Amino acid sequence: MPSVPNSSPVTCLRASLSDADVDLLVIPWFEGDLAGTFDGLDRATGGELSRALASREFAAKLFDVFITPVVDPGWKPRRVALVGAGPVASFTTLVARRLATTVALAARQRRVARLAFLLRPGQADPSGDFDVSGFAQAVAEGLILGEFTGGTYKTGEPSAPAVAAHTIILQGLTDTSPESLLRVETAVERGRLLGECSNLARDLANEPGNTLTPREFAARAANLASDGGVAVEILDEKQIDALGMGMLLGVARGSAEPPRLIVFRHDPPGAPTRPVLGLVGKGVTFDTGGISIKPAENMDRMKDDMAGGAAVAAAMRAIGKLGAPIRVIGIVPAVENMPGGRAIKPGDILRSAEGKTVEVMNTDAEGRLILGDALWYARTLGVTHLVDVATLTGAIVVALGKVTSGLFGTPDSWVNQVRAVADRAGDRIWPLPIFEEYRDQLKSEIADFTNTGGRPGGSITAALFLKEFSGGLPWAHIDIAGTAWVEDQKPYQPKGPSGVAVRTLAELAFTAAAWK
Ligand code: BES
Ligand code: MN
Ligand code: ZN
Repeated sequence: MPSVPNSSPVTCLRASLSDADVDLLVIPWFEGDLAGTFDGLDRATGGELSRALASREFAAKLFDVFITPVVDPGWKPRRVALVGAGPVASFTTLVARRLATTVALAARQRRVARLAFLLRPGQADPSGDFDVSGFAQAVAEGLILGEFTGGTYKTGEPSAPAVAAHTIILQGLTDTSPESLLRVETAVERGRLLGECSNLARDLANEPGNTLTPREFAARAANLASDGGVAVEILDEKQIDALGMGMLLGVARGSAEPPRLIVFRHDPPGAPTRPVLGLVGKGVTFDTGGISIKPAENMDRMKDDMAGGAAVAAAMRAIGKLGAPIRVIGIVPAVENMPGGRAIKPGDILRSAEGKTVEVMNTDAEGRLILGDALWYARTLGVTHLVDVATLTGAIVVALGKVTSGLFGTPDSWVNQVRAVADRAGDRIWPLPIFEEYRDQLKSEIADFTNTGGRPGGSITAALFLKEFSGGLPWAHIDIAGTAWVEDQKPYQPKGPSGVAVRTLAELAFTAAAWK
């Protein structure tokens, strides 16, 4: 296996703007900023800055970028970029992260090798302090997210190279003690790594079904995680059979490609015996729908049906590299959902490893089948808290669009914990109910329940199916079917895999002190 590619470095610098020896100096531009807000800057650009502001060529609209050369020989930066940052009062880590990605992408197009981003104090948190570390981490994440390239198999023009070196300029620090600066530098390195791991998940989700088979997915995921110091075990079809995973094997039957079960273990020496976090990710390397086959239109998109599994693998790598203080177990069931001659059929009965029986009404509802067995397996390995991530239902796109992932689970305290972490990590997420009344939709005449609940509340019944396999543990389910792939490009988000949930899963492993 080739070694895992690293992102470009991100360093911190405390210096005046004129001293930053870079190709592009990036300044977030708040509403109401004036050409004179930064001493000497307008003169350094030969007056281009005040001209662009006066003519409204640059009107500081959020994510608009204006780039102009520096003409003052006393200034080290070659060019200056202003990026519209909105009102200073709504400058959150989410905005900072997105500004950084926006300019990193713009910088690549202009073949910038060295970029410096000025971190300006924005919104104060309720304690009255600007959270420099939190913002610096978000900027580092955003800069690195700009490195992702999707055109892996293009043989013509190579894609624009990533910015080779990033610097975050820190100004106006109230606390300049060495400890405080070290805290900021640690946060920046954390952000760089989380950006890198998000990009590694995006690379996996971008890989087509013919190159990323379940076996190949398992091998690459194992390589990623073991590079992060995480132990990995790959179970083959015989071992999966020995565990009695009839749902996972049922889905795999229609394909010539054998399934795999990927098991990650982060077991830091001296970690407490509990809690043990269990991360479970859907790893369908291609979803044709099986015998309940999908229409041809947009079926190519189903190569990313392992985005949840990729998020778990990449988060495990981050958890290992960052040294999370608790035990974490990751489980990714990897299969291809195909309509082969031995495929399961509507009406077939499958027996889960837990013993519960399922009537398969629709072979396209395969994610819940493989996740049910994976959740059970996580429990047998001793996890105390569960989170699963899956491109599970088209219905979640109807409910929440392509902006927000769906969040389900029980109890509320655990769901809220996941929600709060996702908010900080910059993954948009929103809770939906799993009231018991919906369970009636899964009633079967012949087995314990069916695998589909009809169109109404399709994401909710899918979540209720998973709940059957959560064993009463605190469990949260994140449906990323609408958020794993970007179709409507944004300045801060190119088309393609988004890397959703990687940072949330990784950061969650550092919040155990707050769990009930
Ligand atoms: N992988 C799909 C869900 C999906 C749909 C992901 C659109 C991304 C975009 C999943 O396996 C699926 O096919 N779900 C079915 C369930 C139905 C048969 C109950 C769906 O949503 O239509
Ligand atoms: Mn499906
Ligand atoms: Zn699927």
